[in-house]
Amino acid sequence: MAETRELWDAGERLDVEALRALQLDRLRASLRHAYANVPFYREAFDKAGVRPDDCRSLADLARFPFTTKADLREHYPYGMFAVPRDRVRRLHASSGTTGRPTVVGYTDADLAMWSDMVARSIRAAGGRPGDTVHIAYGYGLFTGGLGAHYGAERLGCTVVPASGGMTSRQVQLIRDLEPRIIMVTPSYMLTLLDEFERQGVDPRSTSLEVGVFGAEPWTEEMRREIEERFGIDAVDIYGLSEVIGPGVAQECVETKDGLHIWEDHFYPEVVDPFTGEVLPEGEEGELVFTSLTKEAMPVVRYRTRDLTRLLPGTARVFRRMRKVTGRSDDMVILRGVNLFPTQVEEIVLRTPGVAPHFQLRLTREGRLDALTVRAEARPDASPDDRVSAARSIAAAVKDGIGVSVAVEIVDPESLERSVGKIRRIVDERVERDERVERVERVERVERPR
Ligand code: DLL
Repeated sequence: MAETRELWDAGERLDVEALRALQLDRLRASLRHAYANVPFYREAFDKAGVRPDDCRSLADLARFPFTTKADLREHYPYGMFAVPRDRVRRLHASSGTTGRPTVVGYTDADLAMWSDMVARSIRAAGGRPGDTVHIAYGYGLFTGGLGAHYGAERLGCTVVPASGGMTSRQVQLIRDLEPRIIMVTPSYMLTLLDEFERQGVDPRSTSLEVGVFGAEPWTEEMRREIEERFGIDAVDIYGLSEVIGPGVAQECVETKDGLHIWEDHFYPEVVDPFTGEVLPEGEEGELVFTSLTKEAMPVVRYRTRDLTRLLPGTARVFRRMRKVTGRSDDMVILRGVNLFPTQVEEIVLRTPGVAPHFQLRLTREGRLDALTVRAEARPDASPDDRVSAARSIAAAVKDGIGVSVAVEIVDPESLERSVGKIRRIVDERVERDERVERVERVERVERPR
């Protein structure tokens, strides 16, 4: 990969001292902005006995209270906004699986900063002005599509705003319009892979060279699978609506060693998920963000529920986060053992005879929870291959994670395919009535208004 330093923006060129000084200035301004303009923060700071000016060093941030998704929900829709409504240029929302969605807002300056960060991300992924970028993240209230879109335009790319769905047309667009870059969830990339094969087109024959994959956890094994099957570089992009959307952190294509956090705008901490104590670099815990420059909706110590660890910078001055293991809410506790879908993904993708499609089904047997891993057979797998795949997955889960699970190898193309963020866990433990009610709640939230 050619040296790209001359393409870097001003933030990427800072040395570490200048970066820390800039962060402290911005942090103090952001805390003052939140305190002065959002009653929620004023109350929370007062209750904790801290004032914005008490933040004299970056470490002082630990004295400030956390903000959670529940706080955002409670102040739905506009209670967390720090600017008058006429300065809010755009809204996005994330559909919660229960209860109210959370609404986020952006001023003109927020949208410009967001585009800059996504442009920086695409460039770090190997994108260059003049590239054609196929965007198959969903467009709409979800931040993926529009976030990627304006960032790619900002970089000077030609954008194909394909959005999610209509999979056979996506394949045609990729063949005809010859994009160099694709931005999509990794699970939907696998759906596209199937579609290429169904149409008899070699996925390695396309113009694609780089995939920028995010919005859900994915593993090194998945990277290898996608890189080999498509003949591209696959890099990770991270973000969340509450902080801005995609473009909070990005893996650099030259190192592929975790995601550099664009910490000139988003200040990261990793805390113990139970005690809230700030953990030293390198220890795994919950990622927490404080926005440094956001106007419409500043966030102070926002708890993402994403589990990762912070590491020193490599390809950039900024600290890195390891690929996200999972969200604390996606962790399954099975007979006392913690299990994340990503751990199963690593195992399934290493197992011969099975396709990279799997699902975790949770049931209750008497008073005990049980987990069934459902993985799809590859089309050429024989009945014997299926039996040995099931055995080897069960053994690897038992050895590697320490818990017994059932494994079903199901027919090719029988598991639900992703068109966006994939749902890995099917929880059948709740009583039927409760389940119906929960489904209704979800539909009420997710149905387009
Ligand atoms: O998913 C923003 C986004 C869009 C990121 C497109 C990257 C690409 P939300 O819908 O608010 O925003 O969901 C945020 O998704 O807290 C993580 O749990 C998860 N997530 C996002 N990116 C990654 C990633 C967008 N690269 C939530 N790896 C976050 C693992 C991710 N999980």
